[in-house]
Amino acid sequence: MIISKANRLNSVKEYYFSSKLRQIKELNDNGMNILNLAIGSPDLAPHEVVLQALTNDVFKQNIHGYQSYKGIDELRKAIADYYMATYRVSLDFGREILPLMGSKEGITHITQAFINPDDTVLVPDPGYPTYRSVSELAHANIEVYHLEEKNNFQIDIESLKQMDLDKAKLMWVNFPNMPTGVQPDMEIMKELVALAKKYQFLIVNDNPYSRILVEEPFSIFQIPGAEDVALELNSLSKSHNMAGWRLGWVCGKSTYIDTVLSIKSNADSGMFYPLQVAASKALQLGDDWYANLNTVYRKRQQKVFELFDWLGCTCNVHQTGLFVWARIPEDIADVEVLVDDLIFKAQIFITPGKIFGKNGERYLRASLCNNEEILDIAISRVKTFVLQKERQAV
Ligand SMILES: Cc1ncc(COP(=O)(O)O)c(C=O)c1O
Repeated sequence: MIISKANRLNSVKEYYFSSKLRQIKELNDNGMNILNLAIGSPDLAPHEVVLQALTNDVFKQNIHGYQSYKGIDELRKAIADYYMATYRVSLDFGREILPLMGSKEGITHITQAFINPDDTVLVPDPGYPTYRSVSELAHANIEVYHLEEKNNFQIDIESLKQMDLDKAKLMWVNFPNMPTGVQPDMEIMKELVALAKKYQFLIVNDNPYSRILVEEPFSIFQIPGAEDVALELNSLSKSHNMAGWRLGWVCGKSTYIDTVLSIKSNADSGMFYPLQVAASKALQLGDDWYANLNTVYRKRQQKVFELFDWLGCTCNVHQTGLFVWARIPEDIADVEVLVDDLIFKAQIFITPGKIFGKNGERYLRASLCNNEEILDIAISRVKTFVLQKERQAV
């Protein structure tokens, strides 16, 4: 006998990486040695101070119980101070910040908190697949807005205005953008906020990459008046090498935060106290932390550019974030064929851009989460693969 699954799962498939990484593991278990250049999970460790804070507190007697649904004051104060120091944005630590177990859970909670069936949710193409899947689970009407290279992957306000925005309730925005690596155009963001006010929809800027290879960190709340129509998700996963710790937050107007809390407080019972203390310490790190991190990523980025150069791909050299987004050459018919060729013939796994939407069909995305030694091996494998292909073509 099989108990049937819920209908809501009919439209949501297993996450691409969940099934693809299973395939890669099977191949590796059977003797291959495929290098994973696909996932954005930092390979570097958090700062010593952060590790020390976690280990110190773990041995205390009275910290093992449930914690407040809203997180401890110390963490919310550290987030407010971080917003002021990083973005020059003022937040009320008591009312405008809700710590989360990573920003990903915030995408679900915000959707559950604001979306009724058939409400329109605007999602970017290309974009992080979770925006769409979580909206599907909520039976939303999903409308795609396009991020295209001809517009430097910026939001095209004129085409947005052509859409039926009367029904729009929520718009997912993600700057610095994953996968394209672009920073937002501030004038366009101002126009977007004005549009959200006119049509009364909520903008959520998903902001986990704001400290990676970025000169001037962006927050949606730098746009005057954005607090009326916007929330922002942020996270320690990438900026502090703490992806596995599951630490993030949502911030914005207290009425919106309370709305999200009414969902979240039914889903979990607070975060382990030492994790919250350690997160506070991470947020108090000085500029040298980000400078050192970005020196490492800058060198790796050069290597990944070199790798893509061998494949005949083109990249914007000013891109930010934890990945390199590269356009494949015109003579490649299908990016998936190239990805499989790279797995089987070069033993490297790079993400096909099409998993982020139709506009990603002509792109590849490689991560900066491997050290230079591994990237050198990847480059030499790609070189051999390309030279062999050229020899076969002669
Ligand atoms: C655009 C984007 N949003 C959110 C997340 C989730 O991050 P977190 O670890 O904070 O849940 C990711 C992770 O890769 C991401 O790329």
